[in-house]
Amino acid sequence: MGEFKRTLITTALPYANGPIHIGHLAGVYVPADIYARYLRLKNEDVLLIGGSDEHGVPITLKAKNEGITPQDVVDKFHAIIKKSFKDFGISFDVYSRTSAKVHHETATEIFKKLYDTGKLVEKTSEQYYDEENQQFLADRYIIGTCPKCGFERAYGDQCESCGTSLSPTELIDPTSMISGNQPVLKETKHWYLPLNEYEPWLKEWILEGHKEWKPNVYGQCKSWIDSGLQPRAVTRDLKWGVPVPLEEAKGKVLYVWFDAPIGYISATKELFNSRSPSGKDEEGLWEKYWKDPETRLLHFIGKDNIVFHCIIFPTVLKAEGTYNLPENVPANEFLNLENDKISTSRNWAVWLHEYLEEFPGKEDVLKYVLTANAPETKDNDFTWKDFQARNNNELVAILGNFVNRALVLTQKYFDGKVPARGELSNYDSETLAAISTIKSDVEKSLSSFRFREALKNAMDLARLGNKYLADEEPWKIWKTDSKRVETILNVCLQITANLTVCLEPFLPFSMEKLRGFLNFGKQEWSQFGNTNLLAAGHQMNTPELLFEKIEDSVIEAQLQKLLDTKKANELAEAKAKPAKESIEFEDFGKMDIRVGTVLEAEKVAKTKKLLKLKIDTGFDKRTVVSGIAEYYEPEDLIGKQVSILVNLEPKKLRGIESQGMILCAENADGSLSIVSPDQKIKNGSEVK
Ligand code: 2FM
Ligand code: ZN
Repeated sequence: MGEFKRTLITTALPYANGPIHIGHLAGVYVPADIYARYLRLKNEDVLLIGGSDEHGVPITLKAKNEGITPQDVVDKFHAIIKKSFKDFGISFDVYSRTSAKVHHETATEIFKKLYDTGKLVEKTSEQYYDEENQQFLADRYIIGTCPKCGFERAYGDQCESCGTSLSPTELIDPTSMISGNQPVLKETKHWYLPLNEYEPWLKEWILEGHKEWKPNVYGQCKSWIDSGLQPRAVTRDLKWGVPVPLEEAKGKVLYVWFDAPIGYISATKELFNSRSPSGKDEEGLWEKYWKDPETRLLHFIGKDNIVFHCIIFPTVLKAEGTYNLPENVPANEFLNLENDKISTSRNWAVWLHEYLEEFPGKEDVLKYVLTANAPETKDNDFTWKDFQARNNNELVAILGNFVNRALVLTQKYFDGKVPARGELSNYDSETLAAISTIKSDVEKSLSSFRFREALKNAMDLARLGNKYLADEEPWKIWKTDSKRVETILNVCLQITANLTVCLEPFLPFSMEKLRGFLNFGKQEWSQFGNTNLLAAGHQMNTPELLFEKIEDSVIEAQLQKLLDTKKANELAEAKAKPAKESIEFEDFGKMDIRVGTVLEAEKVAKTKKLLKLKIDTGFDKRTVVSGIAEYYEPEDLIGKQVSILVNLEPKKLRGIESQGMILCAENADGSLSIVSPDQKIKNGSEVK
C-alpha cells in the first residue's frame, strides 16, 4: 500500500433519531466493513470507526413531539443502532456516540484552537426567531412562498419546486414550522469558518491532487468549489449540542455538522482509552491514527455528505493544523426501495433490526445483495424480487451448490477425507492457476473501492468450481476410474478452501460456517491462491447446506408489508373532504337520531357486506340492515350502543325490511367505524 503504514476507516455517523435501514447499509457500512475485513485479512493495521450522531435540530424536535428529552431520544436509538450493527456483523473497532464526554471535550478543544488562532470569523446577523418557542429557526424549519416561482411551501434554504437555493429572508410570508407562527428577525452572533479563504488550497488539494477520487465525488467537489465558497457558520442558537466554549456564547452550541465528523476523532480516543488498563490512553496512541502522515484516512459516506467530508471537515482539519486529511472519500449514491425513495418519516425502508428478526441467520444474504447491487456510480433500486433471485440463483445455485456437491461427494466416496491429487490434466492445471488470476482481479477491484465488481470477481471462483465439476462429472467415472475422481475432488476442495479466504470479507458468517464443514481454520489473505490449502488425508466434518432457497411466500409477505405502509401513508396524506353546502338548523332537525342497543346480529345470507341487526330504540325494537359486515363480527356488536336514524323511510334490502340506519364514520380507505356514545346512555336518547 505504498507510503502508508496503517488505515483509519471512518463511517458516517448515523443520526440517532431512527433505526438503520438498507440505504445506510448499502451506501456506507457494508462497503466499509468489506474493506476493513479485507485489510485485516492482509494483516494490515486498520481501524473501523463508527458511532451515533446525536445532535442537531431534528432530534430536538422529535423529543419535543414525543414529550421526552433529546437525551432520551438518542439513548433509545443509539442502543437500537448499535445492537443491529453488532448482530449484522459490521466489524467496528469502536462504536461511539457524540453525546459522550470525550466527544464534547474533543469538539470543544478543536473549536477553541480555531478560535484562539484566529481561524474563525465573528459576525452578527439577523435571523428568524420563533417567539412562541423562544428559539432561532434553522433554515429548514421556515417555510414560505418562493420568490422565484411562487411555490407556497418552499424551505428557508431551498425551493423544492424550482430548485433555487434560498436564504430564509427571501421567503414571502415566512412561517415557523415549529409553531406555525410568523417568525420575527432578531440579531444574533455566530462564528464562521471562512471557506472562501481556503478556496485556492481546496482547488489545489482536491481538483489537482485527488483526480483519482470517484467521479461522483470529484464532480460534486468541483461544482461546489467552482460556484464559489462562502463562510459557513459553525455555531447555532440551540440548547442541544456541544456548548460553544465562549463566555459571550451562552445558549449557543456547535453546529451539528461541525461536531459530527470530529466524532470520528473522539471515537478513536474512546477506543484507545478502553484498550488501556487504566482506562486512559496515557500515551496518546490515538494520535498515530490521526496525525502520523503514514496513516491513510478514508471516509465512507453517502452522497449527501460529500461536501461536509471533502470540503468543510478537511478545512477544519487544515485550519487546526496537526491532523491528516482524507486520502479518499469513496462516497456512494442512494439506494431506493421498490422504485421509491427510502424515507424514515414515511416508513419506506427495510429496517435492519426488523430484517434480522425476520431473516435469522441470513445476515450474509443481505450483505451479498446490497453489495451486488450497490449504488456505486448511480442510484440503484432494492427490490424483494431481486433479493430472492440473487439468493436463489447466485448464493444457492452457484456458491452453495458447488460447495455442497464437492463436500457431499467427498463424504460419499472418501468418508470426508481429502483425497490426494494424482497427475494433473491441462484442465486441472488451468483451473488451479485461475485461482490466482481471480485473486488479483478481486484485489484490483477492492483497491479502487469497486465492491460490486470485487464481489462478482470473487463469485467467479465459485463459478469456476461449478463449471469444473460439471465438466468433469466425477459421479460418472467413480466406478471405472476412482483415481481420477480423487484428483477432481482434490481440485474442488482446494477451490472450496480458497473460497473461504476470497469471500471472507463479503460473507463472513457463511465462510465461518464453511470453514466448520471443512474443519479448517481462518487463513490470511496471502493464502488465497495456494492450491494446497487442504492436505491429503485431512478429515472434514459432515456438511450442511450453506444457503437455503427463499420461497415466494416470504417475498410476498415483505411486499405486502410495503403495500400496507403505502396504504397507511396515503391515508395519512389524504386530505379530509371539504364541508358540504350550509343547511338551515331546521333541515338538521328533520332527522330523528336516537341511541339504541344492538340485541341481535347475524350475517345476511349470501352477502359479504350486510348484517341484520335487531335494535332496542327505547320506544320499539326494530330490524336494521347495515353494510358493516366486513368490519364487525356479529357477536362483537351484541350489547353495543349505536346511533340510529329512526325516521328514515324503510327500505327492503335482500328481502329484509330495514327500519332505519346505523351511523358510521368512513375512513379514507372506505372502512367503517360505528359512531357510538362515549358512555352508557338510556336507549331512545336523542342525538342532536
Ligand atoms: O447524514 C447523516 O446521517 C449524518 N448524521 C452523517 C454525519 S457523518 C459525520 F460527520 F459524522
Ligand atoms: Zn421556487
